[in-house]
Amino acid sequence: MLFNRNVGIDLGTANTRIFVEGKGLMVNEPSVLAVDSSTGEIIAIGKNAKAMQGRIPQNIRLIHPVQGGVIADFDYTQSMLKYYLDKALGGSALLSRTVVVVGIPSGITDVEERVVREASLNAGAAVAHLVDEPLAAACGAGIALDRLSADVIVNIGAGHTEVAIINMGAMTEVRSVRTAGIAMDRAIIEHVRRTYNTIIGEVTAEQVKFELGNAYLDDEYRFKTIEVRGRDALTGLPRAVVISAREINIALSECVSGIMEVIKGCLEKAPANLAADIIERGIMLTGGGAKLRGLDKLISIETGMNCTMINEPELAVVMGTTYFFRNHNS
Ligand SMILES: Nc1ncnc2c1ncn2[C@@H]1O[C@H](COP(=O)(O)OP(=O)(O)OP(=O)(O)O)[C@@H](O)[C@H]1O
Ligand SMILES: [Mg+2]
Repeated sequence: MLFNRNVGIDLGTANTRIFVEGKGLMVNEPSVLAVDSSTGEIIAIGKNAKAMQGRIPQNIRLIHPVQGGVIADFDYTQSMLKYYLDKALGGSALLSRTVVVVGIPSGITDVEERVVREASLNAGAAVAHLVDEPLAAACGAGIALDRLSADVIVNIGAGHTEVAIINMGAMTEVRSVRTAGIAMDRAIIEHVRRTYNTIIGEVTAEQVKFELGNAYLDDEYRFKTIEVRGRDALTGLPRAVVISAREINIALSECVSGIMEVIKGCLEKAPANLAADIIERGIMLTGGGAKLRGLDKLISIETGMNCTMINEPELAVVMGTTYFFRNHNS
C-alpha cells in the first residue's frame, strides 16, 4: 500500500518553497521561467532562469507566472510546480501518495482557489489542501493556533502584503494590498530615473534595496552611500551614480506608508475584547519583504506596539504549512 507523503508548498510571487515531511526544505527557488519568445518552450526554471535576468538574449523572455500572490499564468505555473515537486520528491514520489498543503492568499476568489488546486494536482499531487497564508505564516512564526489570546501577523512578500488578526485558529480580521517587495524595487527604479536621469534594472534596484533600503533611518545608515551603475536615460550610455540611504528612505516612504495604513486599518477593526491581547502580544512580521531594515522599528513607533520580525521570515509560510499536515491526515 502507498503511504502518504506530506508536502508543504509556498507558491510565492518571487519564490517557491517546498517542504517535504521526513526530508526537510527541499526547494527554495525563484518563481520564474525562461522561455523561448517565439515558441513559448521552457528553457530554464528557477535559479537558472533568474540568473539570466537583466542580460537575456532577445529570443528569450522571463515569465513570472505568480503575481500579487495569485497564479497569473496557469500553464507555466503548473510546469514550474511539477518541476519543483519532482525535484523535492526525487524518486520517492513513485512509492508514495503526495498530499500537498498549499498556502493561498486570503480573500482570493473561488476560481483562483480552484486554479491552485488544479495546478497542484496536475503537478503530481494526489490530494491538495489549501490553507490561508496568514495562518500558515503565524504557525511558522511559532504562534500556536489553539491559544486563547489574539495575535497580529504581517506577512510582506514580493507581490503582496497581508495583515491578519488571528484568534483561536481563525482570522477575525484580514487585509491585503499589492504593495510589497516588488513595489519597493519599482519605487527605487523610479527615484533613480527621476533624480539622476538614469535607468537601472530590476536586479540592480533589488540590490540597492538590500544594501541601502530602510524604513527608519538609523545612525549606521544616516551617511551610507553606494555607487550604482545604470544607463543614461537620454544618451543610453552607461553611467554610475552615487545614491544614499537617506534618499532611498524617502523613495520607499510611499510603499512603507501604504503598508502602515493597512496595518493600522486592520488594528482599528480589532474586536474590543481582543485589543488587550493584541497590545500585550504585539505584531509579528513574516515574509522576505519584512527584512527591510528598520521596518519593525517604524511599525513599533507608529502603532505604539511591540513589533518583531521572526528569524528567516521568508520561510514562515512554508514551515507553517507543516502544522496542517496532521490535521488533514486525521
Ligand atoms: N534584506 C532585505 N531587505 C528588503 N527586502 C528583502 C530583503 N530580503 C528579501 N527581500 C524581499 O523579499 C521579497 C521576497 O519575499 P518572499 O520570498 O517572502 O516573497 P513571496 O512569498 O515570493 O511573495 P508573495 O508572498 O507576495 O507572493 C523580495 O521582494 C525581496 O526583494
Ligand atoms: Mg509569500
